[in-house]
Amino acid sequence: MTDVFGLSHKDTSPASGQAKHEQVIFCSDEHSGLHAIIAIYNTALGPSLGGTRFYPYENEQAALADVLNLSRAMAYKNALAGLDLGGGKAVIIGDPATDKSEALLRAYGRFVQSLGGRYFTACDVGTYSEDMDIVARESSYVTGRTVANGGAGDSSILTAYGVFQGMRAAAEHTYGTPSLRGRRVGVEGVGKVGHRLVDHLVEDGAEVVLCDVSEQAVERVRRRHPQVEIVAGRLELTGADIDVYAPCALGGALDDDTVARLRATIVCGGANNQLAHPGVEKELADRGILYAPDYVVNSGGVIQVADEIQGFNMDRARAKATQIYDTTLKIFAAAAEDGVPPAVAADRLAERRMSEVGRIRGIWLGH
Ligand SMILES: NC(=O)c1ccc[n+]([C@@H]2O[C@H](COP(=O)([O-])OP(=O)(O)OC[C@H]3O[C@@H](n4cnc5c(N)ncnc54)[C@H](O)[C@@H]3O)[C@@H](O)[C@H]2O)c1
Repeated sequence: MTDVFGLSHKDTSPASGQAKHEQVIFCSDEHSGLHAIIAIYNTALGPSLGGTRFYPYENEQAALADVLNLSRAMAYKNALAGLDLGGGKAVIIGDPATDKSEALLRAYGRFVQSLGGRYFTACDVGTYSEDMDIVARESSYVTGRTVANGGAGDSSILTAYGVFQGMRAAAEHTYGTPSLRGRRVGVEGVGKVGHRLVDHLVEDGAEVVLCDVSEQAVERVRRRHPQVEIVAGRLELTGADIDVYAPCALGGALDDDTVARLRATIVCGGANNQLAHPGVEKELADRGILYAPDYVVNSGGVIQVADEIQGFNMDRARAKATQIYDTTLKIFAAAAEDGVPPAVAADRLAERRMSEVGRIRGIWLGH
C-alpha cells in the first residue's frame, strides 16, 4: 500500500502512532464543510473497523496524530477480541454541536463507500447511532446503527459486560476465584459503561465505591443501588481501601501519583488509554498491582458492533464477549511466563495473531 505521507517505516514505537499505516485518506467537501481523515492501520485480519470521532481539533496535524494512534489501537483491540477485522479509525474535524449536518455526514459516507469495504465505520466520541444511519444512506460499510435499522444499538452494554469478564479473570488470577463477592470495587465514572458495570458488580455481591463529576450520573446509580458508597473524586477513590480500581471515565487515569497512592491489587476498567505514559505498566507491576489491559477488557463494544456486519444477534455477540474472560487469563499467564507486565504481553499476543493469521493470505487460492 502507498504510504502517502512518507512516514518512516522504521519508526515502530507505539508512542509514535505513525508506524506502518497501510493507507491514510484526506477527505474534503467544501459545500458541506466536511474535513475528515480516515486511517487504515492494517487489514491483516480483514477489513479495518473503527469509529468516527467528530471533534474540534486545533489543527489538521492534531487530528492526524489522533487518527493514526486510534487506528493502530483498533488493530490491537480487534486482534485480541478474536475478530476477523483490521484496525481503522476516522476523524471529522469540527464541532459536532454546530457543524454536523445531513449533507456533511452523507458526504463522509461517500468517502467511506469509495474505499470499497477496506474500512467499516461506527460511532465514537461526537457521533451516535442516528448519525450512522445517515452515513449508511451513502455507504454499505457502516455499523453501530440504531436498533430500528437492524443495528446493535448502545455498545456500552457489552463493553460493561466485557469489563466485568476481565475483572472476573483478574480475580481468578489473584484470589483463585472469579467471584467478586465481598470485594470492594472502586468505579471512577458511572456514565454509559460505568453504571452498567456497577449493575454487574452488585449482582455478583461486590461492594461498590464510586465517584463521578456528574451529580446526575451519581444519582442514577444511587436510585438503583442505594447501598453504594459515593466519594468526592479520584483522589479519595484511589486512596480508599478498595480491592479493585475500575477507571471508567477519561483516559490517562493511571499516572505516577495515582499508581503510588493506589491501595487496590487489581486495576480493570472500561476507559480507553488508561496508562498516562509508557512505563506506568511497569510501575503497576513493581507495586504488585495486576493491570488488566484496557483495550482487551473494553473490547465488548467493538464485538457488539462488529457482529452487526453479519446481521446483529445479541446472544452471539454476548457469547463472544464472554471470551474476554479467557483472553484476559491467557494474557496474565503469558505475562508471568515472559516476565513482562500484562500490557506488554497483550501487545505481543495481538502482534502474533496479526502476523500468524495475516500471513495465510499468502496462500494462493488459484483464481
Ligand atoms: N461506550 C463504549 O462502548 C465504550 C467502549 C470502549 C471504551 N469506552 C471508554 O470507556 C470510557 C467511558 O465511556 P462511556 O461511554 O461510559 O462515556 P460516558 O461519557 O457515558 O461516561 C463517562 C462518565 O465519566 C464521568 N467523568 C468525567 N470525568 C470524570 C472525572 N474526572 N472523575 C470521575 N468521573 C468523570 C462523566 O461525568 C460520565 O458520567 C471512555 O474512556 C470510553 O472511551 C467506551
